[in-house]
Amino acid sequence: MTASYQVHGDVAVITLNNPPVNGLGLATRQALAAGLDKAQQDAAVKAIVITGAGKAFSGGADITEFGTEKAFAEPNLHTVISLVEQCAKPVVAAIHSVCMGGGLELSLACHYRVVAPGCNVALPEVKLGLLPGAGGTQRLPRVIGVEAALNMIVSGEPVKSEFIAGVPGQKLFDKLTASAESLMDEALAFARGIADARPLPLVRNLPCKHPQGDAYFQFARNMVRGMAKNFPAPAKCVDAVEAATKKKFADGLLAERELFTQLMWSAESRALRHLFFAERAASKIPDVSSDTPLREVKKVAVIGAGTMGGGIAMNFLNAGIPVTMLEMKPEAIERGVGVMRKNYEAQVKKGKLKQDKYEQRMALLTTTLSYDDLKDADLVIEAVFEDIGVKEQVFRQLDAVVKPGAILASNTSTLDVNRIAAFTKRPQDVVGMHFFSPANVMKLLEVVRGEKTAKDVLATVMAVAKKIRKTAVVAGVCDGFIGNRMIEQYVRQAGFLIDEGCTPAQVDKAIEKFGFAMGPFRMSDLAGNDIGWAIRKRRAVEHPGMKYSKTADLLCEQGRFGQKVGKGWYDYVPGKRDAIPNAGVVAMIEDYRKSQGITPRKVTDDEIVQRLVFSLVNEAAHILEEGIANKASDIDVVYIFGYGFPVFRGGPLNYANEFGLFNVVATMKRFAQNPLDDAAFWQPAPLLARLVAQGKRFA
Ligand SMILES: NC(=O)c1ccc[n+]([C@@H]2O[C@H](COP(=O)([O-])OP(=O)(O)OC[C@H]3O[C@@H](n4cnc5c(N)ncnc54)[C@H](O)[C@@H]3O)[C@@H](O)[C@H]2O)c1
Repeated sequence: MTASYQVHGDVAVITLNNPPVNGLGLATRQALAAGLDKAQQDAAVKAIVITGAGKAFSGGADITEFGTEKAFAEPNLHTVISLVEQCAKPVVAAIHSVCMGGGLELSLACHYRVVAPGCNVALPEVKLGLLPGAGGTQRLPRVIGVEAALNMIVSGEPVKSEFIAGVPGQKLFDKLTASAESLMDEALAFARGIADARPLPLVRNLPCKHPQGDAYFQFARNMVRGMAKNFPAPAKCVDAVEAATKKKFADGLLAERELFTQLMWSAESRALRHLFFAERAASKIPDVSSDTPLREVKKVAVIGAGTMGGGIAMNFLNAGIPVTMLEMKPEAIERGVGVMRKNYEAQVKKGKLKQDKYEQRMALLTTTLSYDDLKDADLVIEAVFEDIGVKEQVFRQLDAVVKPGAILASNTSTLDVNRIAAFTKRPQDVVGMHFFSPANVMKLLEVVRGEKTAKDVLATVMAVAKKIRKTAVVAGVCDGFIGNRMIEQYVRQAGFLIDEGCTPAQVDKAIEKFGFAMGPFRMSDLAGNDIGWAIRKRRAVEHPGMKYSKTADLLCEQGRFGQKVGKGWYDYVPGKRDAIPNAGVVAMIEDYRKSQGITPRKVTDDEIVQRLVFSLVNEAAHILEEGIANKASDIDVVYIFGYGFPVFRGGPLNYANEFGLFNVVATMKRFAQNPLDDAAFWQPAPLLARLVAQGKRFA
């Protein structure tokens, strides 16, 4: 059932019932329309109340219908809204908990609105690169004023019902009930009270004006242009609300529809919608059913209080989960806890965290030098030095003390999780939890599935990730997993680009203009150039013939390890993160070119961007084919949440789809002709070649 119909004396109650949030899917819309019809036919019914069952009045569109014919099938939302508005009997919305998007637009078509306190009211369409397309931009300004409405529409953020109800002169809510529990009783009484009122009040008939219209909208446009540079939706929201103030209601609706359609077709909205689903899909693992019983995780242990260990521990403390942190020496504990305190204190200073919350969080932390104190841990996360010998020592000790069924996780970035698992007698309980630095801030978590990792361990770790507010993606075991394996190719291309004639600043600027948070050279300076150096030394042993620019090694030989030493590809002033180009580095690159007999050439920004981005795409296609990633959208999630890929482009594979895979491959073939590049790398991955041959996209 998607909406139920009941008559209480002389009032009909239509209850939306489409869990979890009463999305306005086709069946719900049909049932709502049928309910309205029935109530109008029944002479005994004097008024109608529309409400929502369970956890919401309505969260708006039914996301399961996005992109399907059902989303627009009649009766579509516009039709239902007209039916409500034109109903000859008064229609009262009884609103509680969640009233968002299409749900709010539906309520705005009702003749009256009764709301419970604590309800989240929002028009969040902008978050998907859209605007409210069912009258929201035309009706909301009429009931709460132009400026308040535009704020809600441009931000998409929820506002509490009692706050709105308390604003003098607002006409969104006719009544705020005493409590959520009394909503239905009060709504029924209200409906009886207005049953005979005529004419029925319509929001569309209210005036909509701003006293300094032109100046205000110019100001609003300037504001959103600065805040949302790569997203067209906020500026179109301004246009739509301006239309509400300048056009007749019906013409304003048409303007809204036109702007909505333009956004619907924009690449930015497609990217945001793709990511919306990609993020939800990431938590689904093909062969692990969603009803897999989870292991209980009430106590966590973290081994190592270094850069990563402290940040990892903070995630759990923030979620109210007690953590025991183990180190080798008291000094290491002191240093690690000191860094955590400093992080929290900075948040307190900025007003982002209350002092008492900070204290509560730290009170959940205990430290130890003894493995005996880890006996009760449900989940242990190892974050010690990246050395297989040290990992072996740690995992053998853990195996000896922790209780059966505890999950043993490693935060390793490069080591083989299967090998680590084999140090224990319980490889089924071992998994990789690859956090990103700073671990208390970065949203991404790569969950590395070992050969023997049990399904319930995976399911539990995915659930834990949600609890600590991470976006988790499952990766198979390989060097670098998903993210770092791809970034290695990207950084290699960046090296070739400077060999051929670019400066580090030119490469960084081009890719930052494309939308990346940070170019490859600034990124390497931040991560530490010595890390890449160590990896290249290892690679030289594993793949002696591998082609790469030697400039990064020369840089490290000069001790230019990056921000931590104040010099890398750029110079840094203490306390600042600004990257200042260094003439010596540029001269070093020029000398290197000479030594290799390379005549520098001018490389265009387009070429820079395509070589960097398509190197990610080709490696991603290998990763998919090998089953290291379960689906293409997982790779986009990794790059958006872990590597600063521009959100408005939806991730590397969404971008490749938009660019056209045929064009991507044709471009790669051109790159393969460049004698200074790596022709073998630019052979399209078999999966990519197949998709092009079949005229398909990454799905
Ligand atoms: N730094 C990053 O950006 C990053 C990102 C993702 C993953 N990682 C991985 O996280 C792990 C830790 O990296 P880090 O940067 O935090 O290193 P770090 O050197 O800052 O910290 C390691 C800590 O482990 C402690 N330690 C070493 N051996 C120990 C043992 N046997 N028992 C208990 N404690 C021990 C050390 O005293 C030190 O405090 C590594 O596996 C690394 O690959 C690091």
